[in-house]
Amino acid sequence: MTLLTYLRRKLGLTGTKLGCAEGGCGACTVMLSRYQTHTQQLLHYAVNACLAPLCSLHLVAVTTVEGIGSVARKLHPVQERIARSHGSQCGFCTPGIVMSMYALLRNNATPKMADVEEAFHGNLCRCTGYRPILEGYKTFTTLMFRIFNVNCVFVSVQESPSLFNAADFAPFDPTQEIIFPPELMGS
Ligand code: FES
Ligand code: FES
Repeated sequence: MTLLTYLRRKLGLTGTKLGCAEGGCGACTVMLSRYQTHTQQLLHYAVNACLAPLCSLHLVAVTTVEGIGSVARKLHPVQERIARSHGSQCGFCTPGIVMSMYALLRNNATPKMADVEEAFHGNLCRCTGYRPILEGYKTFTTLMFRIFNVNCVFVSVQESPSLFNAADFAPFDPTQEIIFPPELMGS
């Protein structure tokens, strides 16, 4: 059984989408986290759940799009910014794109734009043309992080000043993320 089947059919977590079922579209992206005892490092990976056998996930924490935020509770900044920057239209690819970005931020809270672009190599979107997605997520990159953190007046993004007002975005605080379950640390 794949992780995707388990999430959708057994747990009813249908936020993770079934697109191609062969690793080509990224709609099923989730974050897997594993603690490496020999290096004492916590590593996060964006993974295609349609290709991940459930039996390969011993001592691995799985985070789905439902786990990081929701409109009922509170959207995570990764979810909020793709919505406010018009990076979601039909929405089918959105959970996968959100989880690719989320996994990148868990590994690197201040990525460069090249890191963001690379993080989406496995995610296809048939609606947006990618520009609004990248413009929204540009606000997580090194330059924008500095701007938010010194409380400067926001300098508009030159290429697309009208897509959104980044000053409306909730701040991103990487210290407030979900912790890795201690029981999965192994021995
Ligand atoms: Fe397309 Fe998994 S459903 S990559
Ligand atoms: Fe429709 Fe991306 S928003 S496929």
